[in-house]
Amino acid sequence: MRKIVIVGASSGLGQRIAMDFARAGWRVGIAARREAPLQAIKDVYPHNVAYSVIDVTKEDAPAKFLDLIETTGGMDILLFAAGVGFLDPELEDSRLDNTLQTNVVGFARIIAAAYKYYRGTPRFNPGQIAAITSVAGTRGIGVSAAYSSSKRFQQMFLDSLDQLSRQQHVNVRITDIRPGFIRTPLLKEGKPYPLLMSVDHAAPLIERAILRRKRVAVIDSRWAVVTGLWKLVPQCVWKRIAINF
Ligand SMILES: NC(=O)c1ccc[n+]([C@@H]2O[C@H](COP(=O)([O-])OP(=O)(O)OC[C@H]3O[C@@H](n4cnc5c(N)ncnc54)[C@H](OP(=O)(O)O)[C@@H]3O)[C@@H](O)[C@H]2O)c1
Repeated sequence: MRKIVIVGASSGLGQRIAMDFARAGWRVGIAARREAPLQAIKDVYPHNVAYSVIDVTKEDAPAKFLDLIETTGGMDILLFAAGVGFLDPELEDSRLDNTLQTNVVGFARIIAAAYKYYRGTPRFNPGQIAAITSVAGTRGIGVSAAYSSSKRFQQMFLDSLDQLSRQQHVNVRITDIRPGFIRTPLLKEGKPYPLLMSVDHAAPLIERAILRRKRVAVIDSRWAVVTGLWKLVPQCVWKRIAINF
């Protein structure tokens, strides 16, 4: 039985993907801060789901994550789906701190623990580290400065591990999932986000990209075109574009 561990599985994309993998017969280890939604997934799939309450901003997160891998019976794939994000044109201290602690410090802690797990566990089949970053990491977005730059950090960290794993002969594949807007609790209710996707539309595309071991996958193809165009815009023009959603 194949095994996936999903960090950030109590709502939104992580929750949906956890349910899909459990339904498909995988052993699924799930984690987040809120216990009730994790327990609810386990109640539906009592025989192939294990869970652990983990706050990735806490120092004990890597140890708890390694325990969860053990309870799950191993880990063929890590999916890091935990994250916070805010529209924050005022650059509020608490939002900056929360975003950086979760999306940068917490992310790096868990991804590094997964990498070291694979490095210390010789495998016949490659392991996989997948993370949901965002199209927001493509360019600096003024109204979401901390979120946008935290996503760029995540993308660079994954690029770096891709190189390191080759240098160190660690049998692991790296997958960077970059979605555009998806209707989940992360987004503000009622805002008219451009090219907004439903979870029903996005989750199967994300799952396919993971199972195909894509190195980078932009979700969906419309967003691939948009981000391709963003990259072509010179900074002196980009800074004049008032992105406001
Ligand atoms: N929705 C979008 O439009 C969109 C677009 C691009 C990228 N993404 C990215 O996709 C990922 C998933 O987001 P989502 O849209 O599914 O949002 P969501 O429904 O808010 O889910 C976020 C998940 O992260 C967990 N989490 C947050 N802080 C945590 C912490 N300190 N420790 C452990 N878990 C934590 C939450 O669980 P608890 O609160 O229970 O801890 C929850 O399970 C995020 O990285 C987000 O940046 C989303």
